[in-house]
Amino acid sequence: MKLFSLGARLALCASMVRQGTTLADVGTDHAYLPVWLALQGVIRSAIAVDIRPGPLERAKQNIAKFKVGEQVKARLSDGLDEVSPEEADDIVIAGMGGEMILNIVGRAAWLQNPEKNLILQPMTKEEELRRGLLELGFSVRQEQAVQEDYHVYTVMRCVYSPEWKPQNDALFPYIGLLTGDTPASRAYLEREKKRLKNYIRGLEASGDGSGASTLLELCEQLEAMLEEQQKERKP
Ligand SMILES: C[S@@+](CC[C@H](N)C(=O)[O-])C[C@H]1O[C@@H](n2cnc3c(N)ncnc32)[C@H](O)[C@@H]1O
Repeated sequence: MKLFSLGARLALCASMVRQGTTLADVGTDHAYLPVWLALQGVIRSAIAVDIRPGPLERAKQNIAKFKVGEQVKARLSDGLDEVSPEEADDIVIAGMGGEMILNIVGRAAWLQNPEKNLILQPMTKEEELRRGLLELGFSVRQEQAVQEDYHVYTVMRCVYSPEWKPQNDALFPYIGLLTGDTPASRAYLEREKKRLKNYIRGLEASGDGSGASTLLELCEQLEAMLEEQQKERKP
């Protein structure tokens, strides 16, 4: 049977999953990610979790179609509520809003263990997610941006490590570890710059001059990063 292609966004998530691990894919929908990782021989086992019976049925169909039922089990669960710590060392939560991801991570206290590897791919509210992860004691060990169908997404690999601090505290909620070193990362930084500028305009209009000037400073730092990358790209 012909192996399907994951698409750039899920492929980046897959690249951060550790070889030989036990996986939980939360919000699995079609279960493409765990099925693909099983077929590639990356994972030992996986729980493909979804909160809705419809997507879970799709997951079951794909698990059967690609004959990976020994390794990949589908399970109805709200977040990680029905998954036990012994069942998953790598946890992927992809294709959901940042606030939902944060809620799922915050509810599973067993993730607060440096052995667990979290791979998070928010569709929205990345700023809230990064702030919340820091508050919960998670470090971002790796972050990469990816473009798919004219959208730019970020994927972050997080580990519990409460002593960790980002290098640039102030910019971190907006751009995480991204530096503009790839076309996707530059596109992400440009998007955040635009968003910050809109936000600044709103603050100015509401008379919050000090809030606006703090964000203006961050915007200038972002511009400087982008210019630096531009210079490095020129011969
Ligand atoms: C847009 S799909 C993402 C599918 C896949 N992870 C991806 O990135 O392509 C989001 C899925 O998350 C599921 N979902 C939403 N909230 C959830 C929760 N609290 N726990 C488990 N699954 C959830 C939805 O039912 C849906 O199937």
